[in-house]
This record gives sequence, structure tokens and C-alpha cells, in this order.
Amino acid sequence: SDPLRLGLAGLGTVGIGTLELLETQRNLIEIRCGKFLEVTAVSARDRGKDRGFDISKLQWHDDPVALATSDKVDIVVELMGGTDGAAKTLVETALAAGKPVVTANKALMAHHGTALAHLAESSGASLHFEAAVAGGIPVIKALREGLAGNRIHSITGILNGTSNYILTTMRETGRDFGSVLADAQALGYAEADPSFDIDGVDAAHKLALLTALAFGCEVDFPGVYVEGIRNIGAEDIAFAEELGYRIKLLAIAECNNGSVFQRVHPCLVDRKAPIASVDGVFNAVVAEGDYVGTTLFEGRGAGAYPTASAVVADIIDVARGQQLPTFSLPVERLNKLSTRPMAEH
Ligand code: NDP
Ligand code: HSE
Repeated sequence: SDPLRLGLAGLGTVGIGTLELLETQRNLIEIRCGKFLEVTAVSARDRGKDRGFDISKLQWHDDPVALATSDKVDIVVELMGGTDGAAKTLVETALAAGKPVVTANKALMAHHGTALAHLAESSGASLHFEAAVAGGIPVIKALREGLAGNRIHSITGILNGTSNYILTTMRETGRDFGSVLADAQALGYAEADPSFDIDGVDAAHKLALLTALAFGCEVDFPGVYVEGIRNIGAEDIAFAEELGYRIKLLAIAECNNGSVFQRVHPCLVDRKAPIASVDGVFNAVVAEGDYVGTTLFEGRGAGAYPTASAVVADIIDVARGQQLPTFSLPVERLNKLSTRPMAEH
């Protein structure tokens, strides 16, 4: 059959990781989805940049939005980042044209996820964002599909690899915050603006998406209470350790009496709790369901290859013709989220 043609916007950490995975696993992917996948067009800001990957045979577009309208692109893969601007216009244009979109952009989805899901459903396109939450852990699928028979009571997660890497490395080596953050940036874990990582905003973006999936509600990022790890010092980590605790940046969503509470902040976690030993760039998500009980998902939460793994899983879903709602319910049936200030919690 005809190859499925991909247009990739963004050739940074995740974009190049995705190109590499698609190339090295091309036979496996063809067998698994019954179709040959071909990247035909790409876009980034700087055409001349050495990316350590040969893109000379791919059609280049200075304007990423051209991928959405190109007749050589069947699926748009958005790996640029940003809440508004090019990423939003690209995704909206592709969905409006009925093209499936795969994105790793949690900021975009946290701010505009409900509206984009609505656009996807009304134009018959599909919108996939497995890579947007917890890197390589297939937690979107787990909540939307694997746990679909449960009412979820709570979600607790370590959702930011950069923060967890910083807290772990400071604890293990006694190094200072700034130099460990620089390492996380060099490893490709951090956001373009790393304050999103260390101030808890990135974890809050992801929590808002998990909340929508788990509780069948619209995405409510402004409803998340957010506090990051910027003010955690080596002495805090050492004291916690002495008392038998680890400091973890946790993201928690709970449903109580029909209201959902969402919060991100550093927590003291008992050293013996399973989540306390989730270290480095690893993320974890604990979901409590009424029939399944407690489930724990763990894996690498950031970096080129784990994230590419999730991006490609979504691309394969599209190639297999999977048609699922963006969240766990069609948009029309998502509840408006009723949030409460922290003081009432
Ligand atoms: P990078 O900064 O490494 O790469 C971003 C890419 O997008 C670059 O190639 C850049 O071009 C391109 N780009 C940015 N703005 C534009 C624009 N306006 N027009 C055209 N191209 C543009 O980011 P990452 O790869 O780390 O992240 C990409 C997305 O994936 C983000 O949404 C991020 O939040 C998300 N994500 C990242 C993870 C990670 O571990 N890094 C994990 C999970 C999700 P150029 O190279 O020319 O500057
Ligand atoms: N900056 C993010 C993190 C990337 O550190 O978790 C993965 O979403």
C-alpha cells in the first residue's frame, strides 16, 4: 500500500530522536502497522544547523504551518513546543484540514487541549499526545484505555524529569542546584525555558492532562495549585534524609464529593514508599481505581529516545486507523471541572 507520509515540525531533542527511531525501527514498524512510514517534510527555525542527522533529502519548510497544508503530508507531528504562535497555528490548521496530529507539547495541550480536541472531533481528525506526559511511560493509553472500566479516585505522580534529576543528584552528590540544572539541560531533559521545570509549571501542565483523562473533565490548567523546587536547598534534602524521608516534587489530583483538586508541590515522602525510590530522570504515576486498586507506572520521563518512543506509538496508532477520543470521553461529554482553592482542601 501507499506509504503514510509524515511532516515533522521541530528537529530538536525530541524531533531528532523521533527521526532516528523511525529510521532504525522502520522494518519493525512496517510489520506492526502494516504500512510503510515515510518522513517527507520537515520544519525548524535554522535550516543550516548541524543536527547530526541527514535531512538533506527531506522537503524543508521555513514555515511549519506549510506542513499542515502540504499535499505530501498525511500526518503532522508537532515537536516544536510553545503555547501559542507556530505550534498552535500548525495544530489547528492540520486538524481543520482533517489531518491527524501527533504532539509532545504539554503546554499547548494544557492551555488549549479542550478546544483542540473539539476541533479534532468536529473535523473528523484525531489528536494524539502520549509523549506530552511522563515521556516514555504510556500513561495516556493506560488511563484512557487500560483503566477505562474504573472510576479513578486519585492520581499521584512524579511528572517532571528535570526536577527529579536535580533533587536526586543533589541528594546523591551534594552538588548545587545550578550546576545540576545545567546538566539536565545538556542532557535534553529541560524545557526551552527551564523555569517551567523548576517552578512546577511543566508538572502542572501534565497533571491537568491526566486529570482530564482520569476524571472525564475539561482540561483545567489554571485550577492547579503550583509550587516548584527552586527554594529547596542541600540542607533541606539532608534533613529530610535524616528523618527518613525523600523530597519529591509530586503532582496530585484527587476527586472528593464531585470536586477535583489538583496540586503540584514538593513533598516529604517516606523513604520506604515505592515512589521514593523513583530517581533521576524517571517519572512515576500512581493511579487508584475502584476495581483495579493501586497501579504504578514508572519509566524515563524525559530525553530524546523515551519521548520518541511515545511519539512513534501515537504515529503507529494513526497508521493502524485507531480512532479514539482525544481524552477519555468525546469533548461534548467532558464535565466542566469544579475546582476549589487550596484552603478548602
Ligand atoms: P528543542 O528546543 O530541543 O527543539 C525544538 C525544535 O523546534 C527545534 O528544532 C527548533 O528549531 C524548532 N522550533 C521552535 N520554534 C519554532 C518555530 N517557530 N518554527 C519552526 N521551528 C521551531 O525542544 P525539545 O525537542 O526538547 O521539545 C520539543 C517539544 O517536546 C516541546 O513541546 C517539549 O515540551 C516536548 N517534550 C520534550 C521532552 C524532552 O525530554 N526534551 C519530553 C517530552 C515532551 P531550531 O532547532 O532550528 O532552533
Ligand atoms: N522538561 C520535561 C521534564 C520534559 O523534565 O520532564 C519531559 O516532558
